Amino acid sequence: MQNLLVTGGAGFIGSNFVHYCVEHTGFHITVLDKLTYAGHRESLASLPADRVDLVHGDIADAALVNDLVPRADVVVHYAAESHNDNSLHDPRPFLDTNIVGTYTLLEAVRRHGKRYHHISTDEVYGDLDLDDPGRFTEETAYNPSSPYSSTKAGSDMLVRAWFRSFGVQATISNCSNNYGPFQHVEKFIPRQITNLIDGVRPKLYGAGANVRDWIHADDHSAAVLKIIEKGRPGETYLIGADGERSNQQVIETLLELFSLPAGAYDQVTDRPGHDLRYAIDSTKLRTELGWRPVVDSFETGLAATIDWYKANETWWRPQKAGTEARYVEQGQ
Ligand code: NAD
Ligand code: DAU
Repeated sequence: MQNLLVTGGAGFIGSNFVHYCVEHTGFHITVLDKLTYAGHRESLASLPADRVDLVHGDIADAALVNDLVPRADVVVHYAAESHNDNSLHDPRPFLDTNIVGTYTLLEAVRRHGKRYHHISTDEVYGDLDLDDPGRFTEETAYNPSSPYSSTKAGSDMLVRAWFRSFGVQATISNCSNNYGPFQHVEKFIPRQITNLIDGVRPKLYGAGANVRDWIHADDHSAAVLKIIEKGRPGETYLIGADGERSNQQVIETLLELFSLPAGAYDQVTDRPGHDLRYAIDSTKLRTELGWRPVVDSFETGLAATIDWYKANETWWRPQKAGTEARYVEQGQ
């Protein structure tokens, strides 16, 4: 395995994966990215030109995809419209990219006989009650709530069908909420960090009892590498680092890390259909492939993420005002 085609490699998790591969493998990586509002050339700018190429284009462009796929040994598919709140206001791009884009890639890997890894989310399983002792496993039934998560669930189903009907050598991973550098300021953690840097109070949706299961993007990247190296085609692997926290707890931790008083946040309009709790049981990945998270704790990872946003204002500043203007329009 020498050449990877990484879709969405200029986005948050994709760019972290490309950085991780440059550091930990000898792969050459071609990134295919549409550079939507969520994709940033700058996220890859520090990487060596002989290891990483960026092709600006759409995964739903069959001619382009059929040109790039034959040159790769493995296709790792991160590209997506990824934000739940956006999907509630304009679902169409989610269908185009997450469904038609995935279909276009699957047809190309089928035609050219390439190994394919599909990046998905725990949100395909819907949500758990706050007091449910259970967690999601690979056997949990799909039950997505939002236009975003339903298009991700649809794309997972396409991958399963292309494996069973056409023998495409595909694996799927469903990961929980990521945090780390290069995440767009529309998302929960970077929105609050950049608010706090600007002296603005963090914004909590509703009462903030909703629970997310946080994992550092580097731990996600290490898991994806294990799966593309040792995963069994046709299998799904759940990725999670036992990082359950309520949104309110996350905001309180951020306030503490900024040396601000507890409770110094605003409650804003809740997200319609807001999933209550996600929680991942990653036993299969840990026992079958020997993966385990290496980031010490959520709190140390969060402190390092704060440092990254403080040191990289030129990266996030251009996104900030427009993102906040949209949230204000929505009462959030
Ligand atoms: P992101 O929005 O930060 O990045 C998405 C990237 O895809 C951007 O660079 C964008 O330009 C690109 N893109 C969008 N449409 C495209 C198209 N039609 N053709 C080519 N490129 C296109 O998203 P992210 O948070 O990095 O998520 C990446 C993947 O990981 C997604 O598939 C998402 O569902 C999945 N995921 C995300 C999380 C999370 O916590 N963020 C957790 C689990 C799984
Ligand atoms: O679980 C994996 C998913 O995690 C991925 O599939 C998605 O691509 C990714 O965006 C993320 O989805 P969430 O909806 O959980 O992430 P988000 O960062 O938008 O919000 C996290 C939680 O914080 C959620 O309960 C909503 C809440 N929230 C969000 C924002 C932006 C707030 O309380 N205040 C905010 O300002």
